[in-house]
Amino acid sequence: MLDAKLSQMIEQTGQQHLLRFWKELSAEQQKLLAAQLADLDWDLVSNFAKKGTSPQSDFEERARRAAPPAYVVRTPKSAADRDKWRAAREIGENALREGKVGAVLLAGGQGTRLGFKQSKGLFPIGPVTNQSLLEILATKLIATSQRYGTTIPYFVMTSDKTHDEIEEFYRRNNYFGLDPKDVFLFPQGFAPSVDLKSGKVLLADKGNLSMSPDGHGGLFSALWKAGLFGEMQRRGIEYIFSHQVDNPLARVCDPEFIGLHLMHESEVSTKVVAKTGPDEKVGVAVDIDGRTQIIEYSDLPKDLAQARDAAGDLKFWAGSTAIHLFNRSFLERVATSDNILPWHRAIKKIPHIDDQGNAVEPTVENGVKFERFIFDTLPLAKVALIVETVRDDEFAPLKNKEGEFSPDYVRDRMVRLSKRWLNSIGVNPPDDVAVEISPRFALSPEDLSARTGELAAVPFDSPTYLGPKD
Ligand code: UD1
Repeated sequence: MLDAKLSQMIEQTGQQHLLRFWKELSAEQQKLLAAQLADLDWDLVSNFAKKGTSPQSDFEERARRAAPPAYVVRTPKSAADRDKWRAAREIGENALREGKVGAVLLAGGQGTRLGFKQSKGLFPIGPVTNQSLLEILATKLIATSQRYGTTIPYFVMTSDKTHDEIEEFYRRNNYFGLDPKDVFLFPQGFAPSVDLKSGKVLLADKGNLSMSPDGHGGLFSALWKAGLFGEMQRRGIEYIFSHQVDNPLARVCDPEFIGLHLMHESEVSTKVVAKTGPDEKVGVAVDIDGRTQIIEYSDLPKDLAQARDAAGDLKFWAGSTAIHLFNRSFLERVATSDNILPWHRAIKKIPHIDDQGNAVEPTVENGVKFERFIFDTLPLAKVALIVETVRDDEFAPLKNKEGEFSPDYVRDRMVRLSKRWLNSIGVNPPDDVAVEISPRFALSPEDLSARTGELAAVPFDSPTYLGPKD
């Protein structure tokens, strides 16, 4: 039997249809359905059923109150700026050496736009080596840990769609050299799908609700459920660097970013790049009612995306790279506050069963899926900091099959960056030769300076990989 409180909730929210096939289910199936119902976000369900919208979903109206962010740490231009960044670097390096930094990798998405059958992290992106995104990012973590004589624990968020594959891939590849006891794979949660017209939760089959991954804003409760805040505390982790699996240029646990975050006593910081144009599909950093936050591109009305300032530059220029840094204490606060993040809606074709129990494969959009976003935490922070970075140095995400952000585009960006590093120390490979630098060969152009002799002997007459030396 269902718990009395739950039955009452089902009735109050008009979701009795969810129990229509209850009597046909085995005891085991009933137990599973009851567990799904107990886990449901009833606030979300009842608000959607009542108003046809999620509790705080009036994103467009909010966007109309947005102004460009009043304070951004811009890339250094003057000597004073460079001094500030140098000081930040030292502060960040100390935090790393003291073992206070952990890393979160977001790898729960399915990467539908890329049209790759496996999880995106498995995509072979290395321009010379064909190394996967997961390997390149893991190697950055190893190189950074080695440089600062520390261990950076790696918290990899998966979803039911990607978990097994990613786990198996790490295992098969010996975690790319990471120590498995420092790698924590944990799946994000789910949100129910509802019927577009009635607001009723859809049934996937007689004993299961229709559910989809709850977005990367599910990070906080997923970390909590997996007991990982305890793990972070035990290890003395105070700052969490978060990045997406699709960006091989991300400077994982970059000390300058950590230092700037600490200098400004920020609780959450985000790196931005200047948008390439009004249509680029990146969130934008803005201020709304005096609070710094990010508006997702799908929530930014077209006229605002196109708006320009007096100088002719995009008014909302600060595109989110989805690279964030959080204080652990702030993450815990978010994780333990009920319903603190808004739900975003996506209208989709959602297969389900009808009242007779027949399978329905819709040909038009019939339902709503809900997601929470990690960056909706920014306005909740006492201080949220926006830091500008250089696109060519740090942002080349793999998103599409063709064109911008396609595999060819990302590989080209990786090769260009390697060559710029080499050029900066006077090594000039020919234009038509691809070069890939392992993070364990060099994490930054400065690392190359120590290797000029060695590099002078490299012929660069065919695709060249500068790999780890140990
Ligand atoms: C995302 C950001 C956008 C940012 C851009 C930068 C969102 C909603 N938007 O856009 O603001 O400017 O990246 O590249 O994230 N993921 C999960 N669980 C999920 C869904 C996604 O872990 O339920 C992970 C994915 O594995 C991926 C990342 O989140 O690493 C981004 O997801 P994606 O849907 O590709 O976001 P974009 O639309 O590209």
